[in-house]
Amino acid sequence: MSTRTTGKIAVFGATGHQGGAVVDALLDKGAPVRALVRDPRSDRARALAARGIELAVIRTDDSGSLVGALTEVEAFSFMTPEANTLEEVEAEIRIGTALVDAAAAARVPHVVFNSVFGADQESGVPHHDSKRAIEQHLTESGLRVTMMRPTPFMEVMSPSLENGEIVLRLPLPEDVAVKMISLRDIGRVAAALLLGAAEAPGGAVELVGDELTGPQMAAAFGAHAGLPARYEAVPVSMLPSELDRAMFRQFAKMAEHPSDLSVVRAFEPAALDFAGWIRSTGWSAGLHPEN
Ligand SMILES: NC(=O)c1ccc[n+]([C@@H]2O[C@H](COP(=O)([O-])OP(=O)(O)OC[C@H]3O[C@@H](n4cnc5c(N)ncnc54)[C@H](OP(=O)(O)O)[C@@H]3O)[C@@H](O)[C@H]2O)c1
Repeated sequence: MSTRTTGKIAVFGATGHQGGAVVDALLDKGAPVRALVRDPRSDRARALAARGIELAVIRTDDSGSLVGALTEVEAFSFMTPEANTLEEVEAEIRIGTALVDAAAAARVPHVVFNSVFGADQESGVPHHDSKRAIEQHLTESGLRVTMMRPTPFMEVMSPSLENGEIVLRLPLPEDVAVKMISLRDIGRVAAALLLGAAEAPGGAVELVGDELTGPQMAAAFGAHAGLPARYEAVPVSMLPSELDRAMFRQFAKMAEHPSDLSVVRAFEPAALDFAGWIRSTGWSAGLHPEN
């Protein structure tokens, strides 16, 4: 494929967690970025523009706007929006499919999709199988693609301070090791792939920066804060969303297969483990870590 490119890297979701981390890592490398945004007047979009990022206004139901935004870019990074209901899962698949079709129409040389850990297999978790469907559409698109499969973000681990004690609660038994990755490292691995500094063997990379049980995570927060800490497993049934209940059951199954923590470090040698991530956020007891 010999498409002329501007050298720009297009990013969908740049005002969000993952896309924001991708933008940070690309700017750190001096790469020019075009952010696909639906509202260029939002505070977050303006903040991107203030950092020298080109904004391309898109609507995911307007293929012309998507193809225009992806024309002559060097590479394209996208994730799909959070889905909490089956209706939102349908919307997620629609958006992902529209982005893939637009990338194919614009003949983007390389597409990097922030999917989810485990999307190489059917899981029965609706908002994970949706990403599997988008991966399949990507594979069939004829595009050069790389799947990034992140585990839960370290940023979602949010303990509380109760009577001078740190308490971490998750709907997982205390012997289940949770696989996790920091947003910072999702961005750094994506940037390495998008800029051609690294290639994922087999076209996919599973992002696991650390793997700890609930009590081990609570202890890490406690050690950092110099406070006693405990973990409390809460029942999965406490979660309001059936999708999340299915997801946490899946997390428990995934723990049966320990991950090779060196995989992500082949892309980002300084990838954060959980203790390193706590230090890097400036977390202090009683405050939610910065995202
Ligand atoms: N949380 C975890 O631990 C975890 C782990 C692995 C995978 N995931 C997956 O990560 C995804 C969420 O990523 P995230 O946390 O980075 O998302 P996020 O912070 O909620 O950001 C969503 C981004 O998508 C944009 N967006 C949403 N709907 C749009 C639309 N219709 N048109 C144009 N832009 C739209 C938002 O733009 P606006 O600023 O305009 O709203 C924002 O930039 C989900 O698919 C989730 O399943 C999550």
